[in-house]
Amino acid sequence: MATHPAGPRSGALQHAPSLGNQPNDLNQLDPAVWPASATRAANGEIQIAGVGISALAEQYGTPLFIMDEVDVRTRARNYVAAYDTTEMPTDVYYAGKAFLTTTLAKWLTEEGLHIDVCTAGELEVALRAGVDPAKILFHGNNKSVAELEKAVDAGVGRIVIDSLIEIERLNKVAALRGVTQQVFIRLTVGVEAHTHEFIATAHEDQKFGLSVSSGAALAAAEAVIAAEALSLVGLHSHIGSQIFDAAGFEVAAHRVVDMAAKIRDEFDFTVTELNLGGGMGIAYVEGDDPINVNHMAKAIHDIVITECARVHLPVPKLCVEPGRAIVGGTAITVYEVGTVKPVDVDGGNIRHYLSVDGGMSDNIRTALYDAEYTVALASRSTDSVAAVSRVVGKHCESGDIVVRDAWLPADVAPGDLLAVAATGAYCRAMASNYNYLPRPAVVSVRDGQSQVLLRRETMDDLLALDPGAL
Ligand code: LLP
Repeated sequence: MATHPAGPRSGALQHAPSLGNQPNDLNQLDPAVWPASATRAANGEIQIAGVGISALAEQYGTPLFIMDEVDVRTRARNYVAAYDTTEMPTDVYYAGKAFLTTTLAKWLTEEGLHIDVCTAGELEVALRAGVDPAKILFHGNNKSVAELEKAVDAGVGRIVIDSLIEIERLNKVAALRGVTQQVFIRLTVGVEAHTHEFIATAHEDQKFGLSVSSGAALAAAEAVIAAEALSLVGLHSHIGSQIFDAAGFEVAAHRVVDMAAKIRDEFDFTVTELNLGGGMGIAYVEGDDPINVNHMAKAIHDIVITECARVHLPVPKLCVEPGRAIVGGTAITVYEVGTVKPVDVDGGNIRHYLSVDGGMSDNIRTALYDAEYTVALASRSTDSVAAVSRVVGKHCESGDIVVRDAWLPADVAPGDLLAVAATGAYCRAMASNYNYLPRPAVVSVRDGQSQVLLRRETMDDLLALDPGAL
């Protein structure tokens, strides 16, 4: 009988498969995993952009997300430099679902990125940040009519069609307003990519996009070309997340380009843009080795050029949509340790359960995806020996684990601050108020200064939703 994962989950996972050898130096910060400016200050604490995390914790409270602004800008700039070349002009769209605030959107557009949104909420943030609507792309498999209207009214540059029903809907919205809306068609190409592996199938059993194998994609192209208020600019495909090499993109591009050729042959219509989506991976733990941005860009460019030559299509403008790769590695979460519980897990083998003041409400990725993270004692350095440790939250379920397996100093005590690295993407963005925990603040640091990107929620924020509590 299957057991509910919320129950025995932590108990069932006694072994620590991901726990490598005991580290030589528990104070070290792996530059592949930590934000670019993270170092240990003279007093032993971690500092980012010259700001000590104890001072930030004091000022803003914990849990606290701390983002390195220069690191974000550098990664964004490197993406544009690597992808947008004279040989292959490329628009880099930042996938706002990873994490979005008005300040972040401003930084990214200043660095030359466009923004990809997938709800009216994300669109509103981008618009309030002053992002040029022409540089916004709108995704989603179930955009409401109100969302389509908002996007068209705002003058959003690209809307990604995700179903046959949406073609009719969007055409009506655009026609009523007397505008021609530029669109992509999202294809489902039967490629599912993750880290070094990808699966290529002939079927496309998922909710997103229009299947290339069943004819739905071709029917969509025909309908869009015929729609009076829509203009087909390109084809889109997104194959997965946390991808470490270009192999999956090669198969996807092959199928997307085949579809572009088919559209040309059937309807005498040539698309001018090709959007290969996001999913470029980052390092979460030591040993994660995603291909560097320049190599990935070069590989993707070569693939697109070769594929287009194969079917005699002019090389289109390329679009990519990285989210995690821009912000994931640029932020940490700082927690305060509340309790330390040595637990005998296996006839004398002790695991330290370190309970922190957040948990699955600010990082659901460990519980949801078995995600792995790097964690360090952040408020001081230590000469202590290492202990097999598990960082757990304060929620009422045993699956509330932030870092499942870690070597942490055996002397970690209540009041110490722990920092979890690479939490810039899909942590605050997927945060919840489970157990009525207010969602943490996000601050950014630069040149010794901090600023609030999102303030901490208050109890009043939460209670404002409950009429009986007012
Ligand atoms: N474009 C599209 C159409 C997407 O669906 C996504 C992510 C991206 C771009 C950006 O992917 P990225 O470069 O950030 O991997 N919550 C999961 C990730 C879900 C991603 C969904 N779509 C996680 O925490 O790993």
